Order: sequence, then C-alpha cells, then structure tokens
Amino acid sequence: MTTAFPRHLHGGVQYLEFLGRFAPACGARSYFEIGVNIGKSLRRIDLPSIGVDPKFMFREDIMSAKPELHLFQTTSDDFFQTRSLKAFFPEGVDLAFLDGMHLFEFLLRDFINTEKAMGSDGVIFMHDCLPLNAEMTERERRPGQRRDVELKSYWTGDVWKLVPILQRYRPDLEVTLIDCAPTGLVMLRKLDPASQILSASYDEIMEQWMEVEMTDASLEDFYKGLPMSAASEVLSQVGA
Ligand SMILES: C[S@@+](CC[C@H](N)C(=O)[O-])C[C@H]1O[C@@H](n2cnc3c(N)ncnc32)[C@H](O)[C@@H]1O
Repeated sequence: MTTAFPRHLHGGVQYLEFLGRFAPACGARSYFEIGVNIGKSLRRIDLPSIGVDPKFMFREDIMSAKPELHLFQTTSDDFFQTRSLKAFFPEGVDLAFLDGMHLFEFLLRDFINTEKAMGSDGVIFMHDCLPLNAEMTERERRPGQRRDVELKSYWTGDVWKLVPILQRYRPDLEVTLIDCAPTGLVMLRKLDPASQILSASYDEIMEQWMEVEMTDASLEDFYKGLPMSAASEVLSQVGA
C-alpha cells in the first residue's frame, strides 16, 4: 500500500492470535482484562478471568473453556475504587491486558492500579501504544477529518506516551515493544506491586505530557529510539 502520509506498519503476528498463543504457554493461572468490548480478546483466554468495561457488547462466546469469569460493567477507575483483584486472585494476577480508554492518563492509572495486584512473575500487556501514523494519536476521535483515510478506523489515542513515561520513571521495568499487527503490544515484566513512583509523580506527568502531540516528524523519532521485538520471537521464548 503506498501513501502520501508517513506510516509505520507492524508486520508481526496479529495481537489477538499473539495473546491466544502466549497465555497458555506462559504458565499464567489468572487473567485480567480492561476494555472487553465484543470479547474478541477475552474469548481467546481460557484462564480464570476478570473483565471490566463500562459497556459490554458481546457477540462472541466469551466463556469458551474458562473455569470462571467475573464481569464488571463499569469504568476501570470505578472498578479499582470499589473492588479488589486480590479478593478473586489472592496470589495476584498472572496475566493482564490493558485495552480500555485510549487516553494516556487512563492507561497510566490502569497500569498503576493493575501493577499493585500482579503476582510475582506477572506480565502486563498494553495495547495500541505503537501507532501507525501521527493522526491516529489524536485525543479526540475524528475519523471524518483524517487525511490517511485507509487507516481512519484506527484510533490509538495518545497512549503511546506510556512508552517514554515508563522509560523515564520506571527504568526498573522490563519493557518489550512487540511488532504485533496492527498497532503493537507493549509487554511489561519485572513488575513491582509496591512501587509508588508513578502514583507520586502522577501530577507532574500530567503537567508534562498532557499537551504533547505526536506529529509526522515525531512519529519517526519515536520509532528511531525504540528497539522492536518480533512477535514470533517472543512467542518462541515462551514455547508458544
Ligand atoms: C478497543 S476496545 C477493546 C477491545 C478488546 N480488548 C479487543 O481486543 O477486541 C476498548 C474498550 O474500552 C472500553 N472503555 C472505554 N472507557 C473505559 C474505561 N474508562 N474503563 C474501562 N473500559 C473502558 C470501551 O467500552 C471499549 O469496549
């Protein structure tokens, strides 16, 4: 596909297939998902699971072969204020997929709150942090005003900011950027449920990043500085 607009395409395993293969291979015993929508990702994971979304729109057999599934039709912020993941999974969550509201302040809070409930050796995946072009990172979704009309249905919002934010504030994390189609996955390991750094820096991060916008030029810079991992290699590392 040729285009007059700069694009950064990801050619790795599609993210749903990736998650569906990673989950059974990585030894996880529990799964937590923020942003369920019609259930395309949740249905692929046959672990004891919790899903959170303010508006479920199921069209799929989301139960599949899960032994248990707990659904909360509410925002992730409300979920974390009123519920405890540890009440369901006392040993902590092994695998989490954060795919709720695509604005960086929401994903940052989702990460902070989820990390607190992760088990040892837990893995968090974040979706949509590796945009294909600059305009899909707009904070307000406006498909009718996009120049690159072939990609107008993709909206990543500005969750890409989590990558530089975690690099700056949490160098202790192991951050792997995976070339999953279409908009990448970020894998986070060496989690520290006791870490307070992001909560303590939240206001400073908001002040520094809220007005930052990605441009065609800064998209190039973003990818220049990032080592990407092939999805197939990450899968083979866990024997999937
Ligand atoms: C991109 S969809 C999720 C797609 C799904 N994970 C998949 O892979 O097919 C994003 C979902 O996030 C939900 N969402 C929006 N705001 C949210 C919030 N504050 N907390 C949790 N989920 C939210 C939306 O209702 C929507 O269903």
